[in-house]
Amino acid sequence: MSLDPAAALRYHGRAMRILSGIQPSGRLHLGNYFGAIRQYLALQEQGNQCFYFIANYHALTGISDRAAMEEITLHVAAGYLAMGIDPDRSVFFLQSDVPQVTELCWILNCYCPVSLMEKATSYKDKIARGLPANMGLFDYPVLQAADIVIYDADLVPVGRDQKQHVEMARDLVGKFNRAVGKDVLVLPEAHIVPEVAVVPGLDGQKMSKSYDNTIEIFATSKQTKKRCAAIVTDSTALEEPKDPDKCNVMSLLKLLASPEEADEIASKYRAGEYGYGHAKARLAELTNEKFAAARDRYAELIKRGDTVRDMLATGGRKAREVAEATMRRVREACGIMTSR
Ligand code: ADP
Ligand code: TRP
Repeated sequence: MSLDPAAALRYHGRAMRILSGIQPSGRLHLGNYFGAIRQYLALQEQGNQCFYFIANYHALTGISDRAAMEEITLHVAAGYLAMGIDPDRSVFFLQSDVPQVTELCWILNCYCPVSLMEKATSYKDKIARGLPANMGLFDYPVLQAADIVIYDADLVPVGRDQKQHVEMARDLVGKFNRAVGKDVLVLPEAHIVPEVAVVPGLDGQKMSKSYDNTIEIFATSKQTKKRCAAIVTDSTALEEPKDPDKCNVMSLLKLLASPEEADEIASKYRAGEYGYGHAKARLAELTNEKFAAARDRYAELIKRGDTVRDMLATGGRKAREVAEATMRRVREACGIMTSR
């Protein structure tokens, strides 16, 4: 689907509505930035109506410690704000500030065949990794569908791993609308963040908190240097020529350096007398430069936790208004009476 701003603004005769959820389950890293955050910021800059929220109910399927939950929620909220999510332009909020979403989740559950959920690969993967098979984990895609449709979202920017969840949301929209006999819910579409953005971690696997191979965005310069120094490379000696296309350091450098500098470093690899240590030091420098301003803003926001809470509260109010309007349509369509 085109993301041309002019087209976006004409979409469905109103501004295209973008929505994505961020599960607060680990400290933000370069994979999150290049695979998700960068896209969220670009969509905001294009003038779309963006709804971005912290999916803390989803995180509850895996985190049971109260302090850890609060800490990681605040980290992710402050991190996104520090990197440029602008609460004046985007609706930025906590999933738990919109109780209507769990109400919609229940209603959608009643229209969702168990067999549809049994197809979810992320559920099977999580069970295989040893997560407890609780009902929350099984119902995860229905809550995600509720998240999407409650804000009439048109486009859902997500990583490839989330494609199936958006397809399930589309399935559920079809089932619900057919069952009630009218188009109450808007059919969303996934916007898959391009494959190029699969960021390798220190060991060359996909950078992920689950593999403990990340370079964190909000670490100190010193910690960043240490992490970059730990990137796995082969044992080619400093004076020997090296293959830039087979090196984790180079893959990360390509994301952070200008194209000219990346070409220059690739030539140095091929020429020899340029060690992996040089490349790692430059990578740390570029990472520290890229996130210096965001790190300062992050430190300020964490110090004044109330500011973050106030911003989330404002976003929550706006989100609740939209969610309640959808719920009125939904309740009415399925004959659920309330005395509110
Ligand atoms: P993790 O793999 O650390 O658990 P998450 O699954 O919480 O990360 O990531 C949230 C989003 O960040 C994903 O949907 C994906 O778009 C993006 N992302 C995470 N890691 C990477 C990576 N290594 N490369 C590209 N995108 C990533
Ligand atoms: N499941 C998503 C992830 O792990 C997070 C999420 C929750 C989400 N609700 C959403 C993403 C709604 C997009 C839309 O990354």
